[in-house]
Amino acid sequence: MERKTYQAGEDVIKQGADGDEFYVLQEGECECYLDFNDGNPPKMVKSYEHGEAFGELALMYNTPRAATIRAKTDCTLWAMDRATFQKVMLFTTAKRREKYETFLEGVSLLSSMDKYERSKVADALVDRKYADGEYIITEGDTEDDSFFFLVTGKAKATKVLTEGGSEPQVVYEYTKPGEFFGELALITSKPRAANVVANGPCTCVCLDRGSFTRLLGPCEDIIKRNKEQYAEIEKKILSA
Ligand code: CMP
Ligand code: CMP
Repeated sequence: MERKTYQAGEDVIKQGADGDEFYVLQEGECECYLDFNDGNPPKMVKSYEHGEAFGELALMYNTPRAATIRAKTDCTLWAMDRATFQKVMLFTTAKRREKYETFLEGVSLLSSMDKYERSKVADALVDRKYADGEYIITEGDTEDDSFFFLVTGKAKATKVLTEGGSEPQVVYEYTKPGEFFGELALITSKPRAANVVANGPCTCVCLDRGSFTRLLGPCEDIIKRNKEQYAEIEKKILSA
């Protein structure tokens, strides 16, 4: 990587220009401005501090720079050329796929997928870590729209089953790696139908709504089957 310095106010990247470097910020602050070409001045959408990186889009997709990055203060940056960036990207993508491969092979929901389809799921997964008692999903929430697989530890779904708001009851326990939850709100576009709470420390991987729809289409039938199970379980709990 090559060390580069910029003065406050200088553009590191100009929106619309060709690009062949990726940058990591060592010292100082930068800001990202988007020009929507609507007659208004460019809008500041993000700021960068020590250790953050930008300028990947033009290199990944062979497109003009999608935004302007301006030094807010005097800055020291490290620039990586296109060829090195692409090698690093290939390596990290391969590492990532390797990391999740064994886990995803054991997820029964995905058993109808081939290796390539599973590698696409691996590319989209995000790691999450929870402490005992932490809410992974909150009943009624409409903000977070992730879909989860349990990786390690345990979690439980809880819900108020009787009208009038008594204590939430446990309606489901997630104890095995690969079990999933958080599908209902994505399928029905309704608020979250239950809480899901870490039962001891646990880790999950999640997919955002776009990836869920794009990648898990082939598993739709199995996912929908769970919905019928929930009603059965609730009936049993209430009649016990
Ligand atoms: P690139 O298009 O190569 O150059 C401009 C960079 O700004 C872009 O890569 C991203 O790294 C960064 N950026 C940050 N926020 C945005 C955004 N909302 N739209 C586009 N680029 C963004
Ligand atoms: P979602 O509604 O998106 O968020 C809460 C999740 O809890 C829900 O998806 C299901 O995955 C899970 N869940 C487990 N048991 C139940 C239940 N009885 N009713 C509703 N959701 C449940």
